[in-house]
Formats: sequence, structure tokens, C-alpha cells
Amino acid sequence: MDHLDGLRTRLVVDGGRRLEGSVEVPGAKNAALPIMAAAILAEGEVVLHAVPRITDVDVMASILESLGARVREQPGGTLVIDTSSIASHAAPYALVSKLNASFDVAGPLLARFGRAQVPQPGGCVLGPRAVDLHLKGFEALGAAVTLEHGSIIASAESLTGADITLDRPSVGATENIMLAATRAKGTTTIRNAAREPEVCDLAEFVNAMGGRVRGHGSSTITIEGVRKLRGVEYTIIPDRLMAGTYLLAGAITGGDVTVKGLDPAFLTALTDALSASGAQVTASGVSVRVQGNAARKPVDIVTSPFPGFPTDLQPQFVAYLSLAHGTSTVEETIFDARFVYVSELARMGADIRVAGRTAIVTGVERLKDAVVEAPDIRAGGALVLAALAAEGTTQIGGLEFIDRGYEFFEEQLATLGASIARASAVEPVMPRQDLGETIRMPRIVTPFRAS
Ligand code: UD1
Repeated sequence: MDHLDGLRTRLVVDGGRRLEGSVEVPGAKNAALPIMAAAILAEGEVVLHAVPRITDVDVMASILESLGARVREQPGGTLVIDTSSIASHAAPYALVSKLNASFDVAGPLLARFGRAQVPQPGGCVLGPRAVDLHLKGFEALGAAVTLEHGSIIASAESLTGADITLDRPSVGATENIMLAATRAKGTTTIRNAAREPEVCDLAEFVNAMGGRVRGHGSSTITIEGVRKLRGVEYTIIPDRLMAGTYLLAGAITGGDVTVKGLDPAFLTALTDALSASGAQVTASGVSVRVQGNAARKPVDIVTSPFPGFPTDLQPQFVAYLSLAHGTSTVEETIFDARFVYVSELARMGADIRVAGRTAIVTGVERLKDAVVEAPDIRAGGALVLAALAAEGTTQIGGLEFIDRGYEFFEEQLATLGASIARASAVEPVMPRQDLGETIRMPRIVTPFRAS
């Protein structure tokens, strides 16, 4: 099967270069997706700026189009969404199955049309993606919820505000219930709500449309129902997860990277952990600078809801810790199967043992090149970071995952001094450690992705 393997497109990274310079990050994927879904609420055109050019956004746009909305892309990351022509309340399985965040359309459809039909999200590589808290919230607002032929159907003549306490501060449930409540009669209170910056951005977007959401950013959010929401022009907040990945790219290569244009408070859990490891962190205004330190210390982290350490930066931080001088522990409390990438890092020489939901990372002196496969978006980020610091030329497959979450990833890293390119391998490629000989590099067919 090697000849087939060799035909796949990969990221090819020549490791060992110190990254230096500054980058700006695009809008946040995890804000853009629910905001696009929330555009369903607007009676009028919604213009969104700083929408990241990633495939998850394309899938959400297709879901909106399948419902009857018109979505137009303008240069520079602007999307124009007109939902006045929505004729269907049923999202198609073929699209929903590609994107867990697609369940975000349920709340807005229910609020505006009194009916939403969305295939039950399946699991993904991170484990099952439950929506029980979303549904309990819809029921508390007065909707009837049933499961028919694999689709969740929520319907209501009218919705009425309610007092809802979430069992856990789920990002998706907070967002969906908030959106469902925007046009309910009376006031809804969500307790134990998620506090993520992307939840706040969604609340700000709703308010810009004429909604009345208060308390976002705290654990108690109130939503006063309004009769109508209007079209609006809105700019999405910067992506803290991309920003965190670039800062770690600076740190893991012993370099000096500044991320510009975002509130440093978005990244406190990461920058505290980086400082504890011996990196020098400088936050000022709307920029964060990290200067790496070759003698990095081990750090113990536990992922938790915001403002805790984000699960979406856990794999990247493990890559960083795999080169620390000592043993770190990393506990994952959000997603059950979030350590699936560890075997790929091990192929590069990392020493990581997983016991239940904890990874024990014993730092090694160096990482070495390998042919590896990204099993999900953030694991892809972790493998790229490891490759930047590794000796030799690493090839990373699974670009369909990396492209779901990282806009212009290799171009941005290249501006910081990385040697990284997208390549189609046209001859058999075998990992160096298996052959004991020099790797045969693929011919570069498409050095950079077209914009
Ligand atoms: C969102 C983010 C994801 C991030 C996660 C945690 C988007 C598109 N995705 O995902 O990148 O990693 O927040 O910050 O914004 N759960 C239930 N029942 C529910 C809902 C969730 O048991 O009804 C569980 C999930 O299975 C998971 C945990 O709660 O184990 C966290 O889920 P949630 O915060 O809802 O994450 P997502 O919204 O799926």
C-alpha cells in the first residue's frame, strides 16, 4: 500500500529552525460557527468580517444554504448571509455529520420558526458529543423534543423564558439555549453557563442584532426575549487557539514570537503555564510575546472550562512538554479520547504514557523526524509543533483535519522562519527509522495552498 500512501498530500517540515517574528490571527473558528448559525435569527442581511477561511466554515455555509439561506463570500474573510429565504427547518445528515458544531443551528431554527430537525451528532475522534444538556434546555423553554429516524426534532408553538441550571458548563449547550431563548416570552437564566470568550462573542452578536443578553462572561447569563432580531455587520474575535499554537511554535523552537491583535486575557492559562516552564512571556495591550528557553522545566496542567487550560491547546502543550527537562502530568477533563495523537508523537521519539485521563510526559533530549498522521485538528497542530522542533524532515498527513481549523497555517509559520510546505508525494515514502536510510523526499507539487 506504500504507493497509495505516497500519493497523499502532506505537510513537509524541515525542523530545527528558531521561529521569530509576529503574526496576526484570523477570527475564531469556535466563534464564527455559532455566529453563522445565529444569523438564522436575523430578519435581514448579516455581514460577518474576520471569518476564518477553513473548511468547517464552508460546511456551516453549506448547511445554511441547504436550509434555503443565501451565503456570499467576499474577499478578505467576509461572509454575507441572508436567511430571509429559509424554507426548510431540517438540516441534512450528509453535512451535519461532518461538523459537530452544526447542532448550533437547532436553537436559532427553534427560536425563529418553532421547529428544528437536526440529525443527532454522532461521536467524533474525541469521543461522543452528547447534546442532552441542549435538549433539556429546549424542553425547559417549552419545546417538545423527540428522536425520529436518527434526527432530533424540537418544536414549540411558542417558547417561554425559564431558569436553567446546566450540569456542566457546556459551550455548545450554553450557546444553543441562549439562541433558542432570544425570542422567547420573558426572561431566561442560564446558570453554570460556559464563560468562554467565544460564548461572549456570540452574546455580543445577538445584542448587535437587537437581542438582550446580559451576564455573558460570568456563570449566569440572562436572556430577555425580544420580538425580532435584525441584520447586522459584525467582526468576529481573534482565534485564541491559533494564537496559542503560534506562541508555542515560538517556545518549542527556542524562538521569539509575538501574536498581535488579541486580548492577552484570552490566553492566561497558557501563558501562565509557559512562564512556569521558564519561557519569558510579555503581554501588553493587544499582543502577547513569548521567548522560548532551551532549559524548559516540566509543568503539570489540568484542562478545564475557561478560564482554565483549554482542551483545544492540550495536544500542542504536550508536544512542547515532550522536550522539557523532567516529567510533567497533563490531565484531560473535557474529552474522553483526547490522547489519540500520543502514539504519533511517540513515533517522533516522545516519551508519553497515558493512564486513564492523564498523560505522563517525560521530556526527551530531542525529537526525530517521522511520517505521522494527524487524527484531529488540534493534534495536527501538536504534530506540526513537534516537527518544527525535531531533527530532520517530518511529513504530516491528515491535512483534512488541519484545514478544518487552521487558516493559512504553513504560510504564517513560514513568515516566522519555518521551513514548511504542502506537498504531494509522488513516490513511495517510508519513515527513516524503519528503513535505516535517508528518506526520499516527495516532489513538491503545490508549495502553498491557494487562498
Ligand atoms: C466546544 C468547542 C470545542 C472545545 C469545547 C470545550 C466549538 C465548535 N467547539 O465544543 O472546540 O473543545 O467547546 O471548550 O465551539 N457534553 C455533554 N452533554 C451536552 C453537551 C456537552 O455531556 O449536552 C459534554 C461533551 O461530551 C464534552 C463536554 O461536555 O465531554 C464539553 O462539551 P462542550 O463544552 O459542549 O463542547 P462543545 O460545545 O462540543
